[in-house]
Amino acid sequence: MSNKMEKEKKIVSKKSFVEPKAKTMHVSTEQAVVVDPWGNTLVEDYSRLIKEFGMQEFNIKEMPNPSNQMKRGIIFGGQDLGLIAEAIKKKKKFYCLTGIMPSSQKIHLGTEAVIQQVKYFQEQGAITFVLIADVESQATRKVLIEEGKKRALEFHIPAYIALGLDPKKTIFYFQSENKDVSNLAVVCSQKITENEFKAIYGSVHPSKVMSAFTQMGDIFYPQLKEKMPGVIPIGIDQAPHIRMARDIAKRLKEYDFFAPSACYNKYTSSLDGSFKMSKNENIGKIEIPENNRIEMEKKLKKALTGGRATAEEQRKKGGQPEKCVAYEYCKNHFIKNDSVLTKMYQDCLSGKNLCGECKQKYLIEYAIKFYDEFDKNFEKSKKIVKKMGFY
Ligand code: TRP
Ligand code: SF4
Repeated sequence: MSNKMEKEKKIVSKKSFVEPKAKTMHVSTEQAVVVDPWGNTLVEDYSRLIKEFGMQEFNIKEMPNPSNQMKRGIIFGGQDLGLIAEAIKKKKKFYCLTGIMPSSQKIHLGTEAVIQQVKYFQEQGAITFVLIADVESQATRKVLIEEGKKRALEFHIPAYIALGLDPKKTIFYFQSENKDVSNLAVVCSQKITENEFKAIYGSVHPSKVMSAFTQMGDIFYPQLKEKMPGVIPIGIDQAPHIRMARDIAKRLKEYDFFAPSACYNKYTSSLDGSFKMSKNENIGKIEIPENNRIEMEKKLKKALTGGRATAEEQRKKGGQPEKCVAYEYCKNHFIKNDSVLTKMYQDCLSGKNLCGECKQKYLIEYAIKFYDEFDKNFEKSKKIVKKMGFY
């Protein structure tokens, strides 16, 4: 990542929405929050975001067969999810689409949360698209298209399959190779003014304009052949794209597309609890894969907990799992089994577990299981991808 991008770190803070280190967030004239999809966004106040972005609070009662993420409150908001719920219930066609920039050879845990979402919608019958955002990573990260393709084939596509997507039911494509996507991008670019773009993204830098309209092409592409509702599962950093796509959908009368529905997951904190992670931060985070298990354990051992000052106090009062990053990582990523997670939670609350043993027994143990399973699946997935006809 370039220094320039690092400098563009933006923070949405609970109290003031003014970032302590100057010049890091955009507040438009109406004091609207502008999240920069290419910067670092810290979100502490989800309810404010829901309001600012015209999202709806996630309503678990409306979704059929809610996923773990939904039951655990990791999904906090959405847009037009009723349409998707109805398509699922009535077995009507709908799609789910996500994209990944082939810039780094690692997957962020936030991206893992998005893949879990995609997996859920795929299991509910969505026609699933995963695109490689090679145009975007060339434009914003200077990764050459050819290099992006190589990385995607060697790492990103197999990794997505290893994390649970069904390769037989997933349509993978490259932005740079999809003519319909680039044509749609051009059409979409006629529907937004410079000021509107600036209000949504905070900047009209040509590379951002290029990437954002290409992403509009992605979002509508599945509807070119057949009009159907579609859901874009995302972390909050991508919310501006949904906002623009929804505005454009209304104006693209000649196409009569459904505006995209969206489903938002919360960020996972950094291990030290000092900030919420977005894609570009390097401190205190673990990613996928983690090949050095000893280093990984060391990092996990330092995770912030919700423990009390003394063992005695903790035995008496119990710990505070809602303040505990170790618990959050288990809940958001490592422990998929509800009864194991419930036990971790209860043994914390009752004071039965002290933090050291709890971290060993749950955080570290289940992280190792998670990564071992990933590694095993990744090797298999690489072979599957070799046979998929991309080469
Ligand atoms: N912008 C996304 C990222 O930063 C990648 C992406 C491209 C995408 N097109 C998309 C995501 C369409 C969701 C939907 O990783
Ligand atoms: Fe976190 Fe476990 Fe300590 Fe509770 S006992 S605060 S869950 S590390």
